[in-house]
Amino acid sequence: MNYNKKTVMDTDVAGKKILLRCDFNVPQDKETGAITSDKRIVAALPTIRYLLEKGAAVIACSHLGKPKGEWKEKLTLAPVAKRLSELLGQEVIFAADIVGDDAKAKAAALQGGQIMLLENLRFDIREEKNDPSFAKELASMAELYVSDAFGTVHRAHASTVGVAAYLPAVSGLLVAKELEIMGGALQDPKRPFVAVLGGAKVSDKIGVINNLLEKADTIIIGGGMAYTFAKAQGGSIGTSLCENDKLDYARQMIEKAKARGVNLLLPVDTVAAREFAADAEPFTVETRAIPDDMMGLDIGPKTTELFCAAVRKAGTVVWNGPMGVFEFEAFAKGTRAMAQALADSGAVTIVGGGDSAAAVEQMGFADRITHISTGGGASLEFLEGLELPGVACLLDK
Ligand code: 3PG
Repeated sequence: MNYNKKTVMDTDVAGKKILLRCDFNVPQDKETGAITSDKRIVAALPTIRYLLEKGAAVIACSHLGKPKGEWKEKLTLAPVAKRLSELLGQEVIFAADIVGDDAKAKAAALQGGQIMLLENLRFDIREEKNDPSFAKELASMAELYVSDAFGTVHRAHASTVGVAAYLPAVSGLLVAKELEIMGGALQDPKRPFVAVLGGAKVSDKIGVINNLLEKADTIIIGGGMAYTFAKAQGGSIGTSLCENDKLDYARQMIEKAKARGVNLLLPVDTVAAREFAADAEPFTVETRAIPDDMMGLDIGPKTTELFCAAVRKAGTVVWNGPMGVFEFEAFAKGTRAMAQALADSGAVTIVGGGDSAAAVEQMGFADRITHISTGGGASLEFLEGLELPGVACLLDK
């Protein structure tokens, strides 16, 4: 896949009307709807500021949640417009619709240096269908399309791909940075290249493990998916998470690692408990001999040392997925130690979005990591080596 795409820096943006796709799919409090992390809004600021300073008129757009074509008041982007305005220190004009009369009138009146935000793109059923009529209407408001929604580049929707058929399309600074850092890690990593993979399910990471076995020197597998590997090796895993239909796959990956000379590190000990609860009593046991009535909830101390030693020696580390149930303090030690090891290492450290990014942030290590991706699904697909449609549609350099 070609990551060498034109950016806003390679394009004359001055005085232009620009359709800017952002990923403002921010987490919200279930009860109040309040934004619980504005990280994605903050991540969009460099591009927005750059465009506004150059005198462009910015028509920003995003999805929020999964309203599936229904107008859902709880998923309005109005709170995002308010937060964006606070962060920018200037008014963000909010349109009451997406490609309706209000949006079109406000877009037509927008001056250079001003910014507006359209209502949630997914309130229109045509967005996720990549319907050309919707893409054309979105594009009709602008002269240039800028993609800065890295978290959504794995989706082929009207606002991420369709619009590029009607407007010249370039990347924003966030997409450019994500491609440069993650692409660099995959294409020309400083070695040893260590990939740390965790999270609950093997099935979520199949493509990633497979692709990274071709590139990494060491692959570390922790989190819930490690128990499927332990069972595949003949271990007893008690009531731990296990995907029985992935046992063969796990065996194949162990064989592939051997054949390619990749150092595949699996847990040797585990912190287990009788129940999945924050106050459950923790027991350290061997990963392949977990008592019948217990489940593994974190990597054990020997494993933590083994994994962290590999990270300390790395030239590049990519981490995706926590080592255990870090939401429960008693089972957060492995994930915390991993975050600390990345922070302390002199390696280029990249944390994929989603839970591992949340863990690194909550635990206070974020400013000592080279790059924390804003993409969850997108960074996983990137690590899988898949073509990202929202990148492929941009103009080549
Ligand atoms: C994300 O949160 O990963 C992106 O915003 C994409 O959202 P989606 O999974 O609803 O397409």
